Amino acid sequence: MQKIPAGVGPRYPQVVVLVGATGDLSRRKLLPGLFHLATTGFIPGCRIIGVSLDSLDRDGFRDFARKALDEFSTRKVADADWNAFAQNLDYVPLAAGAGALKGAVDLAEKTFPGECRRLHYMSVPPSAALSAVRMLGEADLVERSRIIMEKPFGTDLASAVSLNARLHEVFEEDRIFRIDHFLGKEPAQNILAFRFANGLFEPIWNRNFIDHVQIDVPETLALGKRGPFYESIGAFRDMVVTHLFQILGFMAMEPPTALEPSPISEEKNKVFRSMLPIQPADVVRGQYTGYRSEEGIHPESDTETFIALKCLIDNWRWAGVPFFLRTGKRLAEGQRIISIAFREPPKSMFPAGSGVGAQGPDHLTFDLADASKMSLSFYGKRPGPGMRLDKLSLQFAMHDTGLIGDVLEAYERLILDAMRGDPTLFTTAEGIERLWEVSTPLLEAPPAVRPYAPGSWGPNAIHQLVAPHAWRLPFERVWRDPNRAGN
Ligand code: BG6
Repeated sequence: MQKIPAGVGPRYPQVVVLVGATGDLSRRKLLPGLFHLATTGFIPGCRIIGVSLDSLDRDGFRDFARKALDEFSTRKVADADWNAFAQNLDYVPLAAGAGALKGAVDLAEKTFPGECRRLHYMSVPPSAALSAVRMLGEADLVERSRIIMEKPFGTDLASAVSLNARLHEVFEEDRIFRIDHFLGKEPAQNILAFRFANGLFEPIWNRNFIDHVQIDVPETLALGKRGPFYESIGAFRDMVVTHLFQILGFMAMEPPTALEPSPISEEKNKVFRSMLPIQPADVVRGQYTGYRSEEGIHPESDTETFIALKCLIDNWRWAGVPFFLRTGKRLAEGQRIISIAFREPPKSMFPAGSGVGAQGPDHLTFDLADASKMSLSFYGKRPGPGMRLDKLSLQFAMHDTGLIGDVLEAYERLILDAMRGDPTLFTTAEGIERLWEVSTPLLEAPPAVRPYAPGSWGPNAIHQLVAPHAWRLPFERVWRDPNRAGN
């Protein structure tokens, strides 16, 4: 069994009320994640009460959880571990009401000899979450509790303000953990380490040295069963307001006064405050051909399955540096990269035809895949006579460290943080409301969706959006693979 360093888990045992327990996220991520945290000893004790609209009993829920682990756990599920975990699972159908839920929580808490804490996980859309939150209030389950909310945190400024106000009727802000799983990804946190633990890069992390930034998250995925949900949300609300803007916050923030929740959150919110409102003319919305004939989709749907946009951060560090963001479904490749293009030097001393600058600017690239990678590209001399230049790169891959097995899955990391009461990687009401505020011009006058072919990189207009620059993806030079000779 993995050895857990002291202090990384919560101090007290936890009773988890998992609302939306039979949903997709629960099956894919939450139940496998809780199983891993509980069996590896990250949590000193954990009982889980599943809640959903389904009329299951305790055994039915245990069967459901077992199947979820068999299908989605990335680690092997040993029988002894499963048997111990299964004993800690209980289930209350939503229809049974507040009294039944309170009864189940009391029962679970009695199994712990000393103090314990409660974690309510709302893995349901906002309207269902609000009624569950009211139920938690009625059942008197607010004390000693923290609550994790899943996105969407509203669909515009007004709905976000009202959602937050209604949540605050039951839970104080410091008890609410709005989860954005991109921030739980190891490489996202590595941006903070990279920027603030090294003296090398921070001095050039600004408009004097950086020409532009790209945050690019194309997906090959189609929508599967999520069509009807996605149809009402679209790519901007699904991916940009949450994940991409949050990554941008980490990329662009000033050094916090301490590596602690409120200084980090304050610096991130300052970035959001400095963001200029998103102008519709700086946005390309796309829809893949065939989307409108999918199940649950309106035949004349105007929902975007793709979005690319330019953002500007109007502060001393970033004024005039465009941040280009792109994401979409059914694109050519699945990637999650941040690419920083440095300003180019005057190339005066190199002879014509030397190749200087011919392969674009120097780039620092972060790959946000779980097995993270980083690359710094630069021009260097090609061996031999004369002065011919080639684009070369320094590359790092987490795989090479032998520590890849220690990586916690994003949801695991974030659940653990919420249990410990550490909000560093979660979003605040203020931050989220500001992001909706800067999104208002776009939401009020979205440009028409343009069709794109599945398997492409989006509508053609994406090239005008970044001109005179170019999109980094698809990469001209692939990541170096140590197992492949000659690259
Ligand atoms: C989710 C979005 O939050 O993130 C999905 O709703 C998207 O549409 C997913 O596919 C991407 O996350 P990951 O971790 O699979 O890259």
